[in-house]
Amino acid sequence: MHLHKYEKIWLTFGVGSLILFLVVLGLSAFAFGHQPPSHMGKVDSQNLDQDPIFSEPGLEQINENTYKATIIAQAFGYSPSRIEVPEGSTVLFQVTSSDVVHSFTIPETNVNFMVTPGHINMAEHTFDEAGEYLVLCNEYCGTGHHYMSMTIEVTSP
Ligand code: CUA
Repeated sequence: MHLHKYEKIWLTFGVGSLILFLVVLGLSAFAFGHQPPSHMGKVDSQNLDQDPIFSEPGLEQINENTYKATIIAQAFGYSPSRIEVPEGSTVLFQVTSSDVVHSFTIPETNVNFMVTPGHINMAEHTFDEAGEYLVLCNEYCGTGHHYMSMTIEVTSP
């Protein structure tokens, strides 16, 4: 195969800048200790039943309007599969995975984050409207991926 001189120059330039970009990205990630966006700490995904946070997944009331929901994502569901909070509540979600990467996505809200094994992933949302909210997984995680969901019931007073 014959390559024109300019083709060689541009090819070298293109590949070179790609390598440079990846090296800079990799080095800075290590140097600054970059983590997944919603990362709030580490957890042993193999021993969640002995973990101080995740051994008892569920809902906990923190004060009048604030709740903490501790949730484990696994193929193919969430534990617990349903939580119930009153209208106007702010829910702090802390979620981890016991197997592969999932997501925790509540359509029509700002809650949409990856759930990575070994990490505590967090988000917060205030539910101002009563109703049933569906939580979905939008990271392909296996054959049952499309069945993976849970429900948040927001009750009116
Ligand atoms: Cu879990 Cu897709």
